[in-house]
Amino acid sequence: METVTINHTGYHIKRGKIRGITPLTAMEKMFEIELPGGDALDHDPGQFVEVSLFGVGEAPISICSSPTRRDNFELTVRAAGRLTEALHQLQVGDEVGIRGPFGVGFPIVPLEGNDILLIAGGLGIAPLRSLINFVIDNRRDFGKVDILLGCRDPQSMLFCEELAYWEERIDINFCCSVDRAAPDWAGNIGVITSLIPGVTLDPLKTFSVVCGPPVMYRFVVDELLQKGIPEKQIYLSLERHMKCGLGKCGHCQIHDVYCCQDGPVFSYDVVKQIKGAI
Ligand SMILES: Cc1cc2nc3c(=O)[nH]c(=O)nc-3n(C[C@H](O)[C@H](O)[C@H](O)COP(=O)(O)OP(=O)(O)OC[C@H]3O[C@@H](n4cnc5c(N)ncnc54)[C@H](O)[C@@H]3O)c2cc1C
Ligand code: FES
Repeated sequence: METVTINHTGYHIKRGKIRGITPLTAMEKMFEIELPGGDALDHDPGQFVEVSLFGVGEAPISICSSPTRRDNFELTVRAAGRLTEALHQLQVGDEVGIRGPFGVGFPIVPLEGNDILLIAGGLGIAPLRSLINFVIDNRRDFGKVDILLGCRDPQSMLFCEELAYWEERIDINFCCSVDRAAPDWAGNIGVITSLIPGVTLDPLKTFSVVCGPPVMYRFVVDELLQKGIPEKQIYLSLERHMKCGLGKCGHCQIHDVYCCQDGPVFSYDVVKQIKGAI
């Protein structure tokens, strides 16, 4: 009789132990998670995991650490609802359920040897941090690196120490802007798109990766196209309500596209074919 092998990997919940908790803002905390036996998560930048608490629920959360950094992985969680608020109550040593990693992450191979323009809005810096640290750890494989970050206000800025480090590096151009700030704020004020005209780039050898709230995509893409960056060299991470992460439940479906499996990262030439995607 023929043996049928069913791959249950995506359904399997691993017991992750919280090894560290770093409060980042009033709304966000970063969790360092260790898998049983110290196993590596084995993820690509831009992928996500499904995080669960027994009796509470499960939610998709982006992996914000680079696969190049140690065995434990990191998640930045905004307290937004049932599961994420419960996660914020946990202590070091507590356990969470982890499924994944899932999805198609950021395109590393096309980026290699080229200039990259990384654009994050708000919490979008969490998944991009994974890529940024990957690029820093493999710096010679990439050309010019520009990072643009937009936040609501200075208090909502995540990873402040790392931002200062990126700003100091001479091989990275880092620029950030806030929508509003108190009069003593010395930095830029304005929406994220206001930073794009100031970037000097060679459009044909520049790949841009954009991650942030859906409302910012249309405006950012318009600016990037105006700069002459080809559509297929612009990548967006789409956020949709997700449940299974496995292409089964249809929660993340837009027409025949499953964001959890086909994405969340898509190039703009693909996104623009999907009606209602942005
Ligand atoms: C690929 C991906 C990566 C993500 N990465 C991160 C991350 O790194 N960090 C992070 O903090 N969050 C991340 N999120 C968002 C996070 O998964 C959601 O905020 C999730 O709903 C939180 O679960 P919860 O149970 O805490 O909140 P919920 O109780 O689900 O509520 C959260 C909010 O969403 C609304 N909501 C819930 N379900 C629906 C629905 N079906 N339709 C409309 N509105 C709904 C609720 O009203 C509430 O305002 C990511 C989401 C995706 C898809
Ligand atoms: S989350 Fe279930 S199909 Fe994508």
